Amino acid sequence: MSGSLNPSSLARLLGRWNVGAAPAYRELADVVRLLVLDGRVALDVALPSERSLAVTLGTSRTTVTAAYALLREQGFLSGGQGSRSRSRIPGHGAATAGGNDDGRRLSGAPGLAVPDGILDLAYASLPASGEVVHRAFAAALTELPALLPGFGYDALGVGPLRAAIAARYTAAGVPTTAGQILVTSGAQHALNIVLRTLAGRSGKVLVEHPSYPNALDAIRAAGCRTVTVAMPAAPRAGTAAPVHDGGGAAGWDLEAMESALVQQRPAMAYVVPDFHNPTGRLMPDSQRRRLVASAAAAGTVLVVDETLRELNLDGAQSTPMAAFSPAVVSIGSLSKSHWAGLRTGWIRASEPLIQRFAAARTTFDLGGPVVEQLAAAHLVNDLAEPLPARLAALRENRDTLLKLVRGHLPGWEPERPDGGLSVWCRLPDPVSTALAVLAPDFGIRLAAGPRFGVGGAFEHYLRLPFTLPPEQLETAVVALRAAQARLDGAPQLRRSLPAQPAAAIA
Ligand SMILES: Cc1ncc(COP(=O)(O)O)c(C=O)c1O
Repeated sequence: MSGSLNPSSLARLLGRWNVGAAPAYRELADVVRLLVLDGRVALDVALPSERSLAVTLGTSRTTVTAAYALLREQGFLSGGQGSRSRSRIPGHGAATAGGNDDGRRLSGAPGLAVPDGILDLAYASLPASGEVVHRAFAAALTELPALLPGFGYDALGVGPLRAAIAARYTAAGVPTTAGQILVTSGAQHALNIVLRTLAGRSGKVLVEHPSYPNALDAIRAAGCRTVTVAMPAAPRAGTAAPVHDGGGAAGWDLEAMESALVQQRPAMAYVVPDFHNPTGRLMPDSQRRRLVASAAAAGTVLVVDETLRELNLDGAQSTPMAAFSPAVVSIGSLSKSHWAGLRTGWIRASEPLIQRFAAARTTFDLGGPVVEQLAAAHLVNDLAEPLPARLAALRENRDTLLKLVRGHLPGWEPERPDGGLSVWCRLPDPVSTALAVLAPDFGIRLAAGPRFGVGGAFEHYLRLPFTLPPEQLETAVVALRAAQARLDGAPQLRRSLPAQPAAAIA
């Protein structure tokens, strides 16, 4: 969507852009480039005029002119010379009202739309299980006529989909009625509804640290305060693994979670126990049981994001959190098992709570599109169908990525994930943002570590998705090695840029 950015909004996004590590115009261009790359400045947005931005930033017009010229040269701005400069990404045409136009499909990654020549490591998301999704929509269209006489508004979701989701929980050992399900437009929508209902403005929300960036953004946007609880670091090479209650290599720090619950009494705790984003860890049942009990004792509603639950790469067993207490609120989605383009997710909770969520939902929207929901019902009824092929490819990708990182990037310490779509990697130096800024010069797009934290944490980490096929992962890792070499040769580039929330990662 096109629009314009006024000078003070851009100044706010820029934060402390001039730290004096490089010529001012270059620093300004670097930060604007990061903002465009990670979505904080949307595509095809008109930037402020050079004069007005210079005045607002208290810098010279020459600096802004030179920064804009550099961005234009690098392909991050179009226009100028009489017309307003607009944001773009190299290889993308100008965005239209329908979105970006010429994202090309990479060979070997059917359906993965990325800017020409750029490998996108900022999204941890897969192309659709195309045939399965297509078949579900064909079936949905044959069922549509039966629903056409209705009004088409249904804040809870269409019956067949709610029944299918409920049956799935029941089969997994959590008896569930259709009345306990609210269908949403994805897990992110579900979280927003839950926040609106349960957390209240200025309420506290406990989160794992690191956590899923768009969830952190949603919590912040809801006016809530995050109470962060650090995930234990993975054991460093050559050191003994710390011992956690039943956890894997690192797990969760239940003592820290419990003391935060007792001391802070947050209204809500948001956790991703099933292949946590970004670490890929699976919370063991012993920790699940403990966490559910501790949240209940603190009067905190435990909100469990199960978006990645189906991406179980090593077949480890775990019990859905809701099996331990009827008070748990579960969020699910078809985005990772089938396709994010379905925009279909759900909330499972007690029936009275579901009614409250439905009432809160109507401030966002009045229900989901019907054909999508009918198609989703077919997908949920046959949830396992696309998974074996998906998991086999992901397993190969994960193992390839781990091997490549260990081979090409000595000093980088990737953590082996139990599932999910990404590897959380410790870097030898705190240069994650600097790498993300340099990455497009080397043909890749990255989400810097601080995007997964609060207050600029995780400069020492990078999330590397393994959603690309092995040959493209190799290209990406070689590019990372080149970017790292550029940093090693130019210490002035190793500086932190402001870490702020953004939307263009998943
Ligand atoms: C943990 C987690 N929650 C939610 C989402 C967003 O899901 P949806 O596409 O269903 O909104 C993602 C996507 O990456 C995720 O990793």
